[in-house]
This record gives sequence, C-alpha cells and structure tokens, in this order.
Amino acid sequence: MYTGLKHFHSFLAYLVLLLIAAAVINAILAKASKRPFAGTGRKLALFGLIAAHVQLLFGLVLYFVSPAGFSNFSGANMGNSAARLYMLEHPLTMIIAIVLVTIGWSKAKKAADDGKKYGTIALWYGIALVLMLARIPWAVWPVAG
Ligand code: HEM
Ligand code: HEM
Repeated sequence: MYTGLKHFHSFLAYLVLLLIAAAVINAILAKASKRPFAGTGRKLALFGLIAAHVQLLFGLVLYFVSPAGFSNFSGANMGNSAARLYMLEHPLTMIIAIVLVTIGWSKAKKAADDGKKYGTIALWYGIALVLMLARIPWAVWPVAG
C-alpha cells in the first residue's frame, strides 16, 4: 500500500506541475490575444484543478501511511531539515498551494469577462506553482541522486 501510494503520488506530481504550468502560460497568452475562456484554455485550468485535488486526497493518505510523514513528527525532528520537509513543510506548502488553485478556479468562474478570467488563473495558479516548486523534495524527485 505504501509503495504503491508513493509511486502514484510521484507520478501524479508530473501531471500536476505540467497542467498547472500549462494553464498559467496559456492564460497569459490567451489574455494577451483576447481569446474566450472556453475549450482548451478552460480545460487546462479545470484539469489542473482536478489533478491538484486528486494529489491532495492521495497526499493526505500518504502522509499517514509514510514513515516520513505524521509518524515522524516530533520536536526533535524540527532541527533536521530533511525530516522537517516531509513531516511539515512539503505537506503544509502543498495544501496552501492547492487552496490557492481552488480559489483561483472559483474566482475565475465568477469573473466578469474572459480577460479577467484568464488574469485570475495566471495570478492564483502562478503563485501556487511557485509554492509547489519551492517545496518539492528535489533530492529524490524526479530521480533520486
Ligand atoms: C481532500 C479532498 C478534496 C477537497 C478538500 C476538495 C475541495 C474542493 C473545494 C473546496 C472545491 C470548491 C471550488 C469552488 O468554489 O468552485 C472543489 C471543487 C472541485 N473539486 Fe475538489 N476537493 C477534494 C478532492 C477532489 C477530487 C478527488 C476530485 C476529482 C476527482 C475533485 C474535483 C473537483 C472539481 C472538478 C471541482 C470544481 C467544480 C467546479 O467547477 O466548480 N476534488 N474541491
Ligand atoms: C501539488 C501537490 C503535490 C506535489 C506536486 C507533490 C509532490 C511530491 C513528490 C515529487 C514527492 C517525492 C516522491 C518520491 O519520493 O518519488 C512527494 C513526497 C511526499 N508527499 Fe507530496 N506532493 C504534493 C502534495 C502533497 C500533500 C498535500 C501531502 C500531504 C498532505 C503530501 C505528502 C507527501 C509525503 C508524506 C511524501 C513523502 C513520501 C515518502 O517518501 O515516504 N504531498 N510529494
């Protein structure tokens, strides 16, 4: 169960990062060229949201199954940067990032015109992407070094 979950989480990370990055780049281009918030442009943002939500769901389970997650949480481990990344910084930062993606999608749906919709996606998904990139365990992903 643990190994399978970890592999799935590791694979889904590609999809989340690719879709969120594609949604941001597309939103900037689409806003500039005044394209309607429909078709591929809207789908990239929606699929980015869905991938992020699925990652959240499985990440939460992984957190309680992994030996590096909740079971490793202790005051002593706060002083160990590798342990702190998995038990605290990675989960917390990713949850915040996924909340920002959700807020961005929700605000984009309600925005008055297509330019504002794309602007909203570019801003909120963009900040989320920076947060995600900041707390990926780069030491072990995409290839353990
Ligand atoms: C821990 C699990 C999850 C939480 C806490 C969560 C939370 C949320 C919240 C708060 C929204 C509202 C966004 C809005 O205001 O429109 C939302 C929307 C959505 N979620 Fe999740 N979600 C979770 C898991 C999932 C999963 C597993 C999927 C897909 C398989 C998913 C798919 C979606 C979709 C498609 C929407 C957008 C609906 C729309 O267009 O308004 N979520 N989620
Ligand atoms: C955007 C969302 C996320 C991305 C892109 C992401 C990405 C990753 C990556 C690339 C790894 C390393 C996998 C490997 O060793 O090959 C990892 C590990 C891990 N993630 Fe996430 N993650 C996300 C969200 C979350 C969330 C929300 C949680 C928990 C609440 C979480 C908990 C964990 C845990 C506990 C590990 C360590 C597993 C282990 O090595 O035992 N992740 N994550």
